[in-house]
Amino acid sequence: VIDIRSLYAKTGMFTYDPGFTSTAACDSSITYIDGDKGELTHRGYPIEQLAEKSNYLEVCYLLLYGELPNKEQMADFEQRVTRHTMVHEQMHYFYRGFRRDAHPMAIVCGVVGAMAAFYHDSTDISDAQQREIASIRMIAKLPTIVAMAYKYSVGQPFVYPRNDLDYASNFLHMCFSVPAEEYKIDPVIARAMDLIFTLHADHEQNASTSTVRLAGSSDANPFACIAAGVACLWGPAHGGANEAALNMLREIGTVDRIPEYIARAKDKSDPFRLMGFGHRVYKNYDPRAKVMQETARQVLEIMGVENNPTLQVAKELEKIAGEDPYFIERKLYPNVDFYSGIILDAIGFPTSMFTAIFALSRTVGWIAQWKEMIADPQKKIGRPRQLYMGEPMRDYVEIASR
Ligand code: ACO
Repeated sequence: VIDIRSLYAKTGMFTYDPGFTSTAACDSSITYIDGDKGELTHRGYPIEQLAEKSNYLEVCYLLLYGELPNKEQMADFEQRVTRHTMVHEQMHYFYRGFRRDAHPMAIVCGVVGAMAAFYHDSTDISDAQQREIASIRMIAKLPTIVAMAYKYSVGQPFVYPRNDLDYASNFLHMCFSVPAEEYKIDPVIARAMDLIFTLHADHEQNASTSTVRLAGSSDANPFACIAAGVACLWGPAHGGANEAALNMLREIGTVDRIPEYIARAKDKSDPFRLMGFGHRVYKNYDPRAKVMQETARQVLEIMGVENNPTLQVAKELEKIAGEDPYFIERKLYPNVDFYSGIILDAIGFPTSMFTAIFALSRTVGWIAQWKEMIADPQKKIGRPRQLYMGEPMRDYVEIASR
């Protein structure tokens, strides 16, 4: 058996892998992706079955504790989560410090980090019980925090959580109820919201999850680690892609303009890419995109917009790209973000909220991965090496002589 660590120490040898395309930074038992087959499982259960038969909170339990809950365990988990949905009243003042037109992701990133200031009692990561309380607090409060960011950005009063509603319905209530009128929850819309949460719950070592693990490897408190994940998710190559995909579909506008955009995506002198297409790991259809496509159809039917031009452009674009050798050869298929934006738009969310909703859905995945890492006896601080390409050692030159 070769001791890789002492081999590095003796030879100074290390791997050079920008973008970590082939380097595993941890072992994990939470989520598995077979990118060639287009398969995604959580704790062994296929995402298609979880999407059809389960719900977001049950998937949260599965990701956190490794098994599906029985009835009592589920009832206890629901009760623990709903007991923590309120945020500290002083947090309301904290929101007021933001510009009224601040991007919801800027607010969410700041507020999640600030939770460490409001909930000192659960920042001691050496205590498993405190780690558990911090985890439940974040899963319970993220919908409240994201809904408050939305309310703040549209200049409406905050709406308190209703614990008699399920997780997705409560989020819709906090976003869309106003003092004069309670939001009427359509079960199809609530189910679509729950599906969006479920399909985004975890996705193994993506950029934001790796960020959470790296932050956590220094024993930083859990709120700081999740805030780091939110910050990373914001980028358009990651969580920001759903916003970018919808903007692109709208820009294309009509089916007859698709060839023009396909040609641009193929032109290497044009930086334009088809947003919502391609994935670092999936070299086959993203299984989440299939569920999203059907959900988009159902939601638009409920909203009475079956002939929605954006959905028509999306379906036709998928078809044309699916027959084009450029996309076939590079194995570029629609990813989860391709259809989720259409659904969120139909529900009534502005595009600036899309990534914040992704962040609230992914919080459980980040937490499950963080907990797994903290409990790992092999845990080490993350410290990538580098390939130094700068000047060799040289003598300092006095300023008068430069
Ligand atoms: N449109 C056109 N061409 C593309 C696209 C696209 N969306 N994606 C990849 N390509 C091409 C590249 O130009 C490259 O072509 P080449 O071999 O001729 O140079 C080839 O496909 C491989 O692309 P890479 O950039 O090497 O693939 P990588 O794995 O690094 O990137 C990524 C994956 C970032 C997702 C990329 O496909 C992309 O930019 N997609 C659009 C943004 C997007 O939808 N992001 C969401 C990701 S999913 C998520 O975060 C939930």
